[in-house]
Amino acid sequence: MNDAHLDPGVGEVLVSEEQLRERVAELGREIAAEYEGRELLLVGVLKGAVFFMADLMRELPLFCEVDFMAISSYGSATDSSGVVRILKDLDINIEDRHVLVVEDIIDSGLTLSYLMRNLRSRAPASLEVCALFVKESAHKVRKTVRYVGFDIADRFVVGYGLDFAERYRNLPYVAVLDDSLLPEGM
Ligand code: IMP
Ligand code: MG
Repeated sequence: MNDAHLDPGVGEVLVSEEQLRERVAELGREIAAEYEGRELLLVGVLKGAVFFMADLMRELPLFCEVDFMAISSYGSATDSSGVVRILKDLDINIEDRHVLVVEDIIDSGLTLSYLMRNLRSRAPASLEVCALFVKESAHKVRKTVRYVGFDIADRFVVGYGLDFAERYRNLPYVAVLDDSLLPEGM
């Protein structure tokens, strides 16, 4: 156990370690069935998706490669403003590849919309999205997410890769962040 578990900022557990493991295994089975016979390229969005992606790919009995992108949306720690910029691009050319974008959480959907437009222009053979969490506020982009781990309410959550100001990524479960830590209006 690390000290983050004892942090008063960590509220109610939304998804336990066990529930995460089960759902990730289910997603793996679903993805493996649909991509059977194809070689997959998983594109992880840094940093939050790393934890999910590492677990997900171990549930995939397929040949798969990984690559990463880092994207910044300007804004405060808990609010994405909509202006998106690539901080680190892919190393691999994705033309004619079967690409599965792995995201930690979709909130407004702005990051995802930008990313999909950008990746689509590189002519992959196929392009789908797997997100561990989709918030209610993402209803407009929900249909573009082929694989969804959990649909959740519009609350700020941390753990299993998800951070608040870079903290709490190492929690093995996902918890709601205590309201008192959030800026006004969240
Ligand atoms: P969007 O562009 O509004 O969909 O924001 C997506 C990004 O915002 C995610 O990749 C996260 O980095 C961050 N984010 C959104 N909601 C949460 C949350 O509840 N906890 C932690 N990070 C979040
Ligand atoms: Mg973040």
